[in-house]
Amino acid sequence: MSTLHLVDHPLIQHKLSIMRNRKTGSKDFRELLSEIAMLMGYELTRDLPLEDIQIETPICKMTAKTISGKKLAIVPILRAGLGMVDGLQKLVPVAKVGHIGLYRDPETHMPVEYYCKLPHDIEDRIVILVDPMLATGGSACDALAMLKSHGCQNIRFMALVGCPEGADRVMKEHPDVDIYIAAMDERLNENAYIVPGLGDAGDRIFGTK
Ligand code: PRP
Ligand code: URA
Repeated sequence: MSTLHLVDHPLIQHKLSIMRNRKTGSKDFRELLSEIAMLMGYELTRDLPLEDIQIETPICKMTAKTISGKKLAIVPILRAGLGMVDGLQKLVPVAKVGHIGLYRDPETHMPVEYYCKLPHDIEDRIVILVDPMLATGGSACDALAMLKSHGCQNIRFMALVGCPEGADRVMKEHPDVDIYIAAMDERLNENAYIVPGLGDAGDRIFGTK
């Protein structure tokens, strides 16, 4: 059974409130999203396994810790997930980055796939799937299914704002995937937008509306 991690550190809540404000422009919105992604990444990587290595400090030899085992991959769902990549890359600069392109059909709200490019060894990596919004859960579920069809077995999903409908759907369809989220909002409206939410994340990042 997957675990839903609510990453609601005061700094994250403060920054998210600024992002939600309709008066906040694209530049600030992008910077805050990147900062929150980095702060959430700190929590998401908390359980990465460590191993001992031998090093020599200027003073003496010592046994020190280093991250062991699998390497990481960051996979944003286009477009809005792009806004979370650089914050995570600051934490894990060696992570490879894949891209999954999905957009929601405005009438049906169903995700439509238009792009998929993943690192060649994606099945050997711990994958962090990122998208700021978890609304119906359709996009996240499709992206997770695509990753699994490429052999991924160790996937975490990171979103900024979600709602019970989307979280329930991801946990039901992908019980092996842990979810990291900064806020669980009330519900979806008639257009499948999150209430109160922050509006259309892609448009606010890229200034397209
Ligand atoms: C948004 C968001 C998610 C999706 C969430 O993308 O970034 O990918 O909607 O909705 P869901 O949980 O109901 O699937 P959108 O389709 O607006 O595309 P964009 O990022 O290109 O703007
Ligand atoms: N996509 C968004 O960008 N915002 C929502 O509230 C729902 C889907």
